Amino acid sequence: MAARGSHNRIVEFWSWIRRHQLALLGLAFIPAAAWLFISFCLPSFCPLHDHPTGPPKYLTLRILKDALSTGAVCLDGTPPAYHFRKGAGSGATRWILFFEGGGWCYSKRECVWRSKGGLGSSKYLSPRVTYGGMFSNKQDVNPDFYNWNVAYVHYCDGGSFAGGVDTAVVSKGKKIFFRGRRIVDAVVDDLMASGLNKSTHVMIGGCSAGGLSTFLNCDYIRSRLGDNNAVVKCLSDAGMFLDIPDITGTLTIQPKYERVFNMQNIVSTVDKACLQDRSPSSSYKCFFAQYLLPHIKTPFFVLNSNYDTWSLANIFVPRSADPDGDWEGCIMYSECNSTQAQFLRAFNASMREAVRPAIERQEDGVFAYSAASHCVTHSSEFWTGLRIGDEVLRDAVGSWFLGRAQNATWLDDKFPIDMEDTM
Ligand SMILES: *[C@@H]1O[C@H](CO)[C@@H](O)[C@H](O)[C@H]1NC(C)=O
Ligand SMILES: *[C@@H]1O[C@H](CO)[C@@H](O)[C@H](O)[C@H]1NC(C)=O
Ligand SMILES: *[C@@H]1O[C@H](CO)[C@@H](O)[C@H](O)[C@H]1NC(C)=O
Ligand SMILES: *[C@@H]1O[C@H](CO)[C@@H](O)[C@H](O)[C@H]1NC(C)=O
Repeated sequence: MAARGSHNRIVEFWSWIRRHQLALLGLAFIPAAAWLFISFCLPSFCPLHDHPTGPPKYLTLRILKDALSTGAVCLDGTPPAYHFRKGAGSGATRWILFFEGGGWCYSKRECVWRSKGGLGSSKYLSPRVTYGGMFSNKQDVNPDFYNWNVAYVHYCDGGSFAGGVDTAVVSKGKKIFFRGRRIVDAVVDDLMASGLNKSTHVMIGGCSAGGLSTFLNCDYIRSRLGDNNAVVKCLSDAGMFLDIPDITGTLTIQPKYERVFNMQNIVSTVDKACLQDRSPSSSYKCFFAQYLLPHIKTPFFVLNSNYDTWSLANIFVPRSADPDGDWEGCIMYSECNSTQAQFLRAFNASMREAVRPAIERQEDGVFAYSAASHCVTHSSEFWTGLRIGDEVLRDAVGSWFLGRAQNATWLDDKFPIDMEDTM
């Protein structure tokens, strides 16, 4: 009987469904239509979209084929390139010119190898890219910069956009080129013709090797912009690579930087005041941000972790100093024993000393945070979540750039903590 009763209920249920099928279809249609509307209606005429007349989400690729005639080329001889987003509204005359990072090649042989991939060529770029944080087009995430023009310059010269070798270099039967500075020139020329010449605000920046590029090229680019009274400022994200020995006392980064500096003839492009401070045999030291910073005349913002993960893993505790990887937990996740903690304190002290010129200069800014990380401006999570005291990263950078801060120095004195724990 029980089976019979449940059979009846099923029959009743289906007949109820049949009787109300039109109404049910209608009900299902409402959420489906809403979902389709929100997902697919085009931003330009979609009333639900945040910024109907705002800037696009994507940056689209521009390859500077005309620059070939000026010798501005990537390692492999292909033309330079950047991804571009046009500014909108109040951002129409405001620009971010940002340098991509990606380490360096330290020998001709390594540079030949690099020339066969994305970091040595413009052959492999996506037609469009999107970044969060300082490049986000969402006003709530990125209130000060969401509608600015953005030129995100592709890194393909292996020398932080500072090389200056006129002739092609031949290694292993392959021709390569060290033309970083000409790439900067080609990009600036192209952007000037696209409206950079009418800019009111220009932020020159970069992350990692691109952050170092910002130290190397900041004043130069400002001089190229002419004196149209635009507010021009520079920001390095994770570009402070320190001139320090590793934990065993060996100089690891110094000879590497010396090789890049000499191989790429960076002496021809680097700040002359920095060169004057030292003997010709140590000119290469001007490839270190800490020796460039005191000479930079453009307002400069140093954004860096006190325990930068790339620097810890490659400069302070390179493989050669930690062959078994015993330091990995300390470097990446801040799980350090007391010996390691002592070393990290010393590293933090060197970092603080290196950024001191920017702490002392009124027009400069510093955001020296303790979370273990490397490059944070691209990430909306860090841009809106990374804080020192009450100051969130995006507000610190915005306040400094737009002159809202009395003293744009934010220093974290804490011991490193895992990035995940700071949000
Ligand atoms: C900027 O460049 C454009 C394109 O080359 C040119 O038409 C315009 O006159 C320039 N404007 C200024 C202010 O130099
Ligand atoms: C901490 O770890 C390192 C690397 O494993 C080791 O060399 C050192 O002796 C350790 N120190 C202490 C106090 O355990
Ligand atoms: C800004 O504040 C820092 C400490 O927070 C201080 O060391 C520095 O001297 C101040 N800079 C200026 C220009 O007043
Ligand atoms: C990092 O260095 C600064 C400046 O020397 C210091 O005030 C701070 O206490 C240091 N932090 C740690 C955790 O040692």
